Amino acid sequence: MNLPGAQPTRQHHAGDAPTGRSLDPHRQRYAQRAAGMRASEVRALFAVASRPEVVSLAGGMPNLAALPLDALAEDVARLVAAEGQTVLQYGSAQGLPALREQICEVMSLEGISAHPDDVVVTVGSQMALDMVTRVFCDPGDVVLAEAPSYVGALSTFSAYQAEVVHVGMDDEGLVPEALRQVLGALSAQGRRVKFLYTIPNFHNPAGVTLAERRRAEVLEICARHDVLVVEDNPYGLLGFGDQTHPALRSTEPDNVVYLGSFSKTFASGLRVGWALAPHAVREKLVLAAESATLCPPAFTQAVVSRFLARHDWRGQVKQFRAAYRERRDAMVSALEQHLPAGCRWTRPDGGFYVWLTVPEGVDTRAMLPRAVTERVAYVPGAAFYADGLGSRQMRLSYCYPTPERIQEGVRRLAAVLEGELDVLRTFGGRGSPGRHPGLAGPHSPSPDTA
Ligand SMILES: Cc1ncc(COP(=O)(O)O)c(C=O)c1O
Repeated sequence: MNLPGAQPTRQHHAGDAPTGRSLDPHRQRYAQRAAGMRASEVRALFAVASRPEVVSLAGGMPNLAALPLDALAEDVARLVAAEGQTVLQYGSAQGLPALREQICEVMSLEGISAHPDDVVVTVGSQMALDMVTRVFCDPGDVVLAEAPSYVGALSTFSAYQAEVVHVGMDDEGLVPEALRQVLGALSAQGRRVKFLYTIPNFHNPAGVTLAERRRAEVLEICARHDVLVVEDNPYGLLGFGDQTHPALRSTEPDNVVYLGSFSKTFASGLRVGWALAPHAVREKLVLAAESATLCPPAFTQAVVSRFLARHDWRGQVKQFRAAYRERRDAMVSALEQHLPAGCRWTRPDGGFYVWLTVPEGVDTRAMLPRAVTERVAYVPGAAFYADGLGSRQMRLSYCYPTPERIQEGVRRLAAVLEGELDVLRTFGGRGSPGRHPGLAGPHSPSPDTA
């Protein structure tokens, strides 16, 4: 399988808002970078998709049903009673020292040996992405990202007016040869690449994992081209096999900024993530964090820290893995059973997502309203490209609905697809708008699409 979109692409910036829609009286006042900040056109549909009768295979919301809520409630009450004076106060810009030590213990599961001094706690790893981009990117700088890539990262790069150049993936993740070619082409043009943004494990949205034998090669190519690696790894501990993949950071501490999160392994609503950076970079990240939030919330950090200290968090992660594996199985078997010929999909070994390619002629963005009418929702593939590619793809997530709902959702999706294919067979191709100029570009993440 080849995931499409290996070509260099340019993001859209100022002045590309749909014409005739600029009624905002403040329009002339905005900084240029604000032009890159746009809400997803599919957001409105997601409001409908969150109705109970719709099976949403769109959201990336973790399934929190396995959390011991009563025990956590008692713990939080004790925390406020015993340590309220500190945990309800401002804290350090870098994050609670005790939590930073625990984060090092969590990362050791992926072979990382780190010092708590090099960890910066953030408001989710999304904030870490923002800080890294702010620290490294000037407008027009190039950032490499897999094709497809996480919509929230594309949105951040766009907000800082960085230009995203996609690098192709296959079933084994980022293709080293594609990386070599893209870097060679950019260097021939005299373009400076600031970093490679990569999600090596259980990719969002592609569902694939970077083969271990490719990891050293990717690091070596980046080092040779003097390109920093930003390793975004919120799903690394959520593999369905017994093995945890070694982080890129574990072998290359000086050229990798690693981003981690408790959103998928504990609770996304607490908004606790982190960056582990080479020492010099760490200082810049702390300054960037300070100017954004003064300090991350001491309270939610203390809740996470207490959870790690007093609960069997490794057992909790195991429970999450079992729950997501069951859901993955439900989705994959439903896809095999119901989808029409000509569809292809990835089979994730962990994480939350399946990446589905539909037969030629079907446009997943155009099809979404019909799918929602038939009470099933997904995220169209174009949201995950900086240039509107992905019209034949969609992301399906299995993290939140029950296995029964997943099967029902896939059955409905299959019926919608059959309907589309019937129309195509009857009336011929309507021309697949792979590059629809008005719809191109990244989209702001919403809680439903992140
Ligand atoms: C690849 C990736 N990076 C970052 C994030 C943001 O996570 P957080 O909740 O830690 O901000 C997400 C959330 O879905 C994600 O999938």
